[in-house]
Amino acid sequence: MSRSGKVTVVGSGFYGSTTALRLAEYDIFETVVLTDILEGKAEGLALDMNQSRSIEGFETKVVGATTTADGAGYEATANSDVVVITAGLPRKPGMSRMDLIGVNAGIVRGVAENIAKHSPKAVIIVVSNPLDEMTALTQIATGFPHHQVMGQAGMLDTARFTNYVAEKLAVPVSAVKTLTLGSHGETMVPVPSRCTVNGQPLTSLLPANEIEELVERTRNGGAEIVALLKTGSAYYAPSAAAARMAKAVIEDSGAIMPVCAWVEGQYGISGVYLGVEAKIGRAGIKEVVETALTDSEVAALKVAAEAVRSKQADVKDL
Ligand code: 2OP
Repeated sequence: MSRSGKVTVVGSGFYGSTTALRLAEYDIFETVVLTDILEGKAEGLALDMNQSRSIEGFETKVVGATTTADGAGYEATANSDVVVITAGLPRKPGMSRMDLIGVNAGIVRGVAENIAKHSPKAVIIVVSNPLDEMTALTQIATGFPHHQVMGQAGMLDTARFTNYVAEKLAVPVSAVKTLTLGSHGETMVPVPSRCTVNGQPLTSLLPANEIEELVERTRNGGAEIVALLKTGSAYYAPSAAAARMAKAVIEDSGAIMPVCAWVEGQYGISGVYLGVEAKIGRAGIKEVVETALTDSEVAALKVAAEAVRSKQADVKDL
């Protein structure tokens, strides 16, 4: 099997370390670099992951590096093809993602600048919260073309929606297709008109009020887990989503995924990072793909766009 490319995961918390392990276990990258500001943490986790290679049967090498805010240690990430930014604080119970904006903006800006310096060609996948704003900030701080910077949210929200539908109808998750667009927050837009179970429209299988309950649970999917965990936020489904996006980039797969991408005219919306479907490849976003939506879904997407637009305008000063 041929392996190629280098992917860096910034931040060795549960989200970052789980993402790094998933990427290593795909066994498609030459190198996975994991970083953290806590001295020795990334190195220790990398060593541990490498020791699992003979058991799990993968050859990808995991490298750990301690980094500092002034850029020390970033040499280990140099010339990455893909970078996943997980740096920042997670929510505590009762917090919204937006409550993190001040503290995480400072962290993400510093990381983005250091990444841009060492890996000017990298495709960046942002997962730090509040997601849509941190994605916009990363593009501003790196100065990268918009197609080179995207955020992970729709893959996760869609996976949550799919899981709830599968549980509700007692069918395999593989029988269910769902879609969520909009923001990774209050103005998330789950799209029931695009949801099917074994090819049948979800709207013909469940009454509207029961679909609405699943939509609402999807919108609160992250908060439900934060409330249960009490410390930290979700990471198994989020890391699966981010790792799949990184895989699509390095394989130049052209897979269509719901992601946070820069929109320029799609759905009549322009100049904002928003959750939409997009074709993913080696250059990042190959193309934003418009799908047929009902009038009310387009209206909800426009509300989401305006909500994130005003916050994204603030981030350049944070
Ligand atoms: C979530 O929704 C971490 O924002 C992420 O769980």
